[in-house]
Amino acid sequence: MVELALPKNSVYGPGKIWPKPAHATKLTEFRIYRWNPDDGRNPQIDTFFVDREDCGPMVLDALLYIKNKIDPTLTLRRSCREGICGSCAMNIDGQNTLACTKAIDDVNAPVKIFPLPHMPVVKDLVPDLTHFYAQHASIEPWLKTETPAPEKEWLQSPVDRAKLDGLYECILCACCSTSCPSYWWNGDRYLGPSALLQAYRWLIDSRDEGTGERLDDLEDPFRLYRCHTIMNCARACPKGLNPAKAIAEIKNLMVARQA
Ligand code: SF4
Ligand code: SF4
Ligand code: FES
Repeated sequence: MVELALPKNSVYGPGKIWPKPAHATKLTEFRIYRWNPDDGRNPQIDTFFVDREDCGPMVLDALLYIKNKIDPTLTLRRSCREGICGSCAMNIDGQNTLACTKAIDDVNAPVKIFPLPHMPVVKDLVPDLTHFYAQHASIEPWLKTETPAPEKEWLQSPVDRAKLDGLYECILCACCSTSCPSYWWNGDRYLGPSALLQAYRWLIDSRDEGTGERLDDLEDPFRLYRCHTIMNCARACPKGLNPAKAIAEIKNLMVARQA
């Protein structure tokens, strides 16, 4: 029988229960994963209470309330607060999503927040996305052309432009890849749903002339074919995209070129 055990230093324990804000009449409890690489201690779950009369409606508002008013050492990423930059991706109540577009009222209390799963943690809610970004770079996310550039711009018909819908909106938040079981186990070699959705975005672009070499690069038992159509990626995507469908389309292109 296979025995799976987490390394001792990754097992989290109970953390600090921070005092409730004085005079608050509407409180919501948050339990947040904390880990500091510098203190030598195991991760812990801290408990905070947020005064909802003094806080915006989204989970990101609550995290910033905690950081600004209770514990300034709470570490997280965020930038746009509009679901555009992808930097506030985290696991909220068991679901990978964006903290800035997730309403506190839509989450069961106490609100449990962890960093994106199966990634090395830099600190608290910040995962190390170095490998994830390197995989994105590896699919060469730019237009490859051999035809001399036109004087003004590469034109596309409305029909060809529409083929990019459902692909170009990806914000590289990593919610999909970090919810994919195949990526959890083979993330070193399997590109994962995010990078593969991007790969398809360039493969299907009518202006791109690198189709053959792009497909050659993906023709590998791990880089593409570790997708088993489990569909967690489509369920997780906060932008409503369907990476599994894009992966299936790449597999169709592989078959078509062998026919
Ligand atoms: S459909 Fe493929 S990429 Fe998406 S979660 Fe499943 S195995 Fe991963
Ligand atoms: S496909 Fe969706 S979940 Fe995956 S990186 Fe792009 S926006 Fe995020
Ligand atoms: S802060 Fe930019 S997506 Fe949430």
